[in-house]
Amino acid sequence: METFGELPADAASRDYWAAQRRRLASPPDGGLNIAFEAVDRHADGPDGDRPALRCIDGRGMVEEISFRQLAVLTNRFARLLQRLGLRPGDAVFTLLGREPALYITALGALKAGAVFCPLFSAYGPDPLRTRMAKGRCKVLVTSARQWTRKVAAFRNALPDLEHVLVVDDPWGQGAPGGTLDFGRAIEDADPRPVVPPTTKDDPALLFFTSGTTGAPKGALHAHEAVVVHHATARGVFGLAPGDIFWCTADPGWVTGTVYGILAPLTAGATVIADREEFDAVRWYRLLQEQSVAVWYTAPTAIRMLMRLDATAEGRALTDTLDLSALRLAASVGEPLNPQAVLWGKERLGKPFHDTWWQTETGGIMIANVPGVDIRPGSMGKPLPGVQADVVDRRPDGRIVPVSAPDTTGILALRTGWPSQFRSYIDEDDRYRSSFADGWYLSGDLARKDADGYFWFVGRADDVIKSAGHLIGPFEVESALMDHPAVAEVGVAGRPDAIAGEIVRAYVTLKPGFDADEALRRSLLAQARQRLGAAVAPREIVFVENLPKTNSGKILRRELRALGDGP
Ligand code: WT7
Repeated sequence: METFGELPADAASRDYWAAQRRRLASPPDGGLNIAFEAVDRHADGPDGDRPALRCIDGRGMVEEISFRQLAVLTNRFARLLQRLGLRPGDAVFTLLGREPALYITALGALKAGAVFCPLFSAYGPDPLRTRMAKGRCKVLVTSARQWTRKVAAFRNALPDLEHVLVVDDPWGQGAPGGTLDFGRAIEDADPRPVVPPTTKDDPALLFFTSGTTGAPKGALHAHEAVVVHHATARGVFGLAPGDIFWCTADPGWVTGTVYGILAPLTAGATVIADREEFDAVRWYRLLQEQSVAVWYTAPTAIRMLMRLDATAEGRALTDTLDLSALRLAASVGEPLNPQAVLWGKERLGKPFHDTWWQTETGGIMIANVPGVDIRPGSMGKPLPGVQADVVDRRPDGRIVPVSAPDTTGILALRTGWPSQFRSYIDEDDRYRSSFADGWYLSGDLARKDADGYFWFVGRADDVIKSAGHLIGPFEVESALMDHPAVAEVGVAGRPDAIAGEIVRAYVTLKPGFDADEALRRSLLAQARQRLGAAVAPREIVFVENLPKTNSGKILRRELRALGDGP
């Protein structure tokens, strides 16, 4: 596999990562495996009986799984995959919430040498199908409900899909025809240890992410990413065995896997797995009741917690909250308002530490680490081993750091960090064009102040960030294009005080259709049915024309300026 990662990184940063690698163990036959570092390494040592997971359901029931138990469960799942004929490099997907099966599948698949890929439960059939096809999903683990409602109908269009395992759901529907019962299959499987067959460069994790144009990109990471997972679990979060860590990210996205499962476990911490969706009152209570020591969340959630705290009812709750166990609160995914940083300090006793990274970087790259002064509104400084800068692309293709402080440019990373993505599957050109002159170009605009703090300015492309989720306009446009009334459609983000941005579609109609309320509802319904409510546009604006370039491409940036249309 060609990697652009070998290696413009300077000698100091190579030494740094080599030292971080030495902090990890190795499976018995050498090599490197993320699940071995996350589970087996602790299972056999003095921390084996500590809880790896605390799964909390909607009624507050807590189920604990120790590292030792998780080792056996993941052995079983890995051996089940082997018995089903899975070969290293084959893809195992989940479409699950934060429930034991998610963790068992992710870690068991990694142990077996499979590639693990999580899907977002709120996706509708279109985004699910695109991703499962592109990622050559061979095994899917999901609920009976998700399966029958969204996936079963296109199973035959997925030639690679061989096995579907369904977890027990509260409706007790059992395993529908053509699927296997996850719980029973695990019980029947062989629990003996598995020696993972992987080395540092073998593929491990696949995450889909969106660009301005075209289908979603499948960013592939190798087992070596665990070096960054572990280094950041310690360096950014200060995690050690016994710490309670709560990452609130949805398991369908990169943060939900890397910091919701892998990184904290490599440090021996206990992961809180909350099955429910966001609820401000419940979240405040969870922080207290679970004695969360380190909390990793996102600006949209923080803004909603702030909003509740601004009410009399919320105040009554937060005034009596005991967050004495909370050592560190951190944020990721969207710009964190300076007010939110300070609100955390004042009302929760801890300021929010902003962190920056991306699907492609595989782990945190820039952060306000403990012990360094926070500049509210800044993403912090590059971590040790990470060479980040604000750069310009010269006409001759050369990449040069901007010289003056506080100057906006492209946020770029010198290639060669261990969790750097290794490809966009089947899209070599797209992958190559993310790199230039020894740099990875992030697609974000940023500036760096005279003291080396990085400040987020915006995206250089047209993707939409809504409630922390990256949404590709093209995917949304495609779901509307084949509505019989639509002539053309352009999708862009509209600023929103809570979610950062919301998805809005600008539509021109074919002759004979009226821009009325019934049509608006019909368009919204079609989009929701295909894309899922989290991705579908929240607003439709009917326009006469869409702004275009001379070559006929929609100018999404100008769409935003169109506002509410005529
Ligand atoms: C994009 C990456 C971060 C991992 C999970 C999401 C935006 C990320 C920050 C931050 C402002 C941020 C960027 C980035 N972003 N962190 N601290 N401040 N913006 O990964 O879905 O690949 O999204 O999220 O635009 O490029 P992702």
